Amino acid sequence: MRLVLLGPPGAGKGTQAATMVEKYNIVHISTGDLLRAAVKAGTKLGLEAKGYMESGQLVPDSLILGLMEERIQQEDCQEGFLLDGFPRTPAQADALDEMLTKLGQKLDAVVNIEVPLDKLMVRLTGRRVCKTCGATYHVSFNPSPKGDLCGNCGAELIQRADDTEETVKNRLDVYEQQTAPLIDYYTKAGIIKNINGDQDIKKVLEDISIALGGKE
Ligand code: AP5
Ligand code: MG
Ligand code: ZN
Repeated sequence: MRLVLLGPPGAGKGTQAATMVEKYNIVHISTGDLLRAAVKAGTKLGLEAKGYMESGQLVPDSLILGLMEERIQQEDCQEGFLLDGFPRTPAQADALDEMLTKLGQKLDAVVNIEVPLDKLMVRLTGRRVCKTCGATYHVSFNPSPKGDLCGNCGAELIQRADDTEETVKNRLDVYEQQTAPLIDYYTKAGIIKNINGDQDIKKVLEDISIALGGKE
């Protein structure tokens, strides 16, 4: 299955992806995670991307498109993939279409997780992520069973550099202006599945499964 997860910052894309990849046996490709790993490793890509990410702007297409074209052709993508955070603009969506056409592939569905914008600030400023394994928590909505440490691996939980109130505001504006038009784009393509993301994490997953043709 070849899927795209769409939704504003904090909608729960990463949270749902973590379980969906196991259920559908596909790889999770998050452009945000790839870029954060590059920043951490101090690679050329990371150095170029850092400033954009910290201010909540999109990283230029010149840094993203080549990276994604290479990634979706890797061996582990044979059975399918779940794209999280890409495409993020109609231009990126056109580029993805071209990449897939060249490979003789197409998207099966675009899962659009809908959450009212006024709920996203509290989700993002309360998010905590594991420094080591990347597991995602929320101080109130999804706390780690081990408090300040990761429930999976016991490592320290940290806040993402772009989860400050000021940067979140910019990210939400960027989403409205540059990414929200993709809802229309994929509605016209006839492959969008709109999901109510303003419910319990497990219920969101159930609704996604039903929308993708499963039972629960
Ligand atoms: P990226 O990492 O993609 O960030 P984002 O789109 O802002 O999305 P988030 O990861 O913040 O949210 P999420 O939907 O994954 O939510 P999560 O599951 O964690 O991108 C970061 C930056 O990289 C961009 O700003 C840009 O600079 C750059 N970038 C990335 N891709 C790019 C591209 N294609 N082009 C150009 N630039 C690019 O959940 C959030 C919180 O809510 C957590 O605390 C979670 O526990 C909680 N939560 C989740 N679900 C629920 C629920 N149902 N109820 C209550 N709480 C919930
Ligand atoms: Mg994410
Ligand atoms: Zn961990």
